[in-house]
Amino acid sequence: MSRALELAQRGPSHGPNPRVGCVLLARDGSIVGEGWHRGAGTAHAEVAALADARERGADPHGATAVVTLEPCNHTGRTGPCSQALLDAGVTRVVVSVEDPNPAAAGGVARLRAGGVDVVTGLDVEHGRAVLRTWLAAVGRGRPFVTLKLATSLDGRVAAADGTSRWITSEVARRHAHELRAQVDAIAVGTTTALVDDPSLTARNAAGELHEHQPLRVVVGLRDLPAGGRLHGPGGELLHLRTHDPAAVLAELHAREVRHVLVEGGATLAAAFLRARLVDEVHAYVAPVLLGSGAPAVADLGVTTIGDALRLTPTSVLPLGPDVLVVATPRHEELH
Ligand SMILES: NC(=O)c1ccc[n+]([C@@H]2O[C@H](COP(=O)([O-])OP(=O)(O)OC[C@H]3O[C@@H](n4cnc5c(N)ncnc54)[C@H](OP(=O)(O)O)[C@@H]3O)[C@@H](O)[C@H]2O)c1
Repeated sequence: MSRALELAQRGPSHGPNPRVGCVLLARDGSIVGEGWHRGAGTAHAEVAALADARERGADPHGATAVVTLEPCNHTGRTGPCSQALLDAGVTRVVVSVEDPNPAAAGGVARLRAGGVDVVTGLDVEHGRAVLRTWLAAVGRGRPFVTLKLATSLDGRVAAADGTSRWITSEVARRHAHELRAQVDAIAVGTTTALVDDPSLTARNAAGELHEHQPLRVVVGLRDLPAGGRLHGPGGELLHLRTHDPAAVLAELHAREVRHVLVEGGATLAAAFLRARLVDEVHAYVAPVLLGSGAPAVADLGVTTIGDALRLTPTSVLPLGPDVLVVATPRHEELH
């Protein structure tokens, strides 16, 4: 299973489908095939592993398949994996995480009905960690939401005159771009789109565009100018004329977005936080003091300290002179 989980992580972390790995073991325990899912529309991990075994000249008949996620039981862009395993004569299947997606689940039952010995829950903590954002998105029926903030030590995102480039260091900004390359969509409010003229692209250290570009989403009622970097090279541009974060997520879910990065500004950040629709906060904090200027988050309706929105930090990472704090809003822990 460790090897299967390693293979799973070779797949893209963006896209509608989960990252899945599969290892086929012969009766003597030797590996005869390996596969992982390379993204929507391509072979699922089990089918890729069966193809790999055949390429190696191995017969999967009587083999054990070790899979990180329950084999699917539905025909989507590809056929059901449970049937592919049955057809290949696999006699034992070991699964880490059971599929929470009602449309795809049922693979274990189908395999068992076909006489296959199935074990589930192996190394499930690790398996769930690899599938974290996908499991949350499928379970909640909406994209996983990461809120990114890049602030001074006193929690500001711009100086009094509105200048904000750059509060955080290059190393922190590069780190943030890596996350952009892993998500399906980036969202900003119309003011940020109008004032900052952002490109909302994922770029590497050399400034070149990553192969995968997230959908660019602007939330708000005002029109966007015809020119501007948002119309330049990058992902598709989607302007959602609403103030309702739930409506934004419903539209993105319909477009198979599993992970959205909300990048501000303060008004949009507060709207998502007030609606309790933030799953994780990534706060890049620079050792800079501004004293005045725009805050990272607008009014949350907190008037007394007892009502503060408290977060639980999950990691703290020094990035050059800056620090990245990853934290989860406490209400999320209740789910
Ligand atoms: N340092 C950083 O990391 C960072 C990141 C992003 C932004 N910023 C800075 O933040 C500033 C912009 O922040 P901001 O708070 O003024 O703007 P914003 O959050 O980018 O956009 C606010 C606008 O979005 C629309 N909107 C969408 N959802 C809304 C809701 N639920 N409630 C109310 N309005 C909603 C409204 O415009 P309509 O009237 O069009 O509906 C609103 O005026 C800029 O100066 C930018 O430089 C800094």
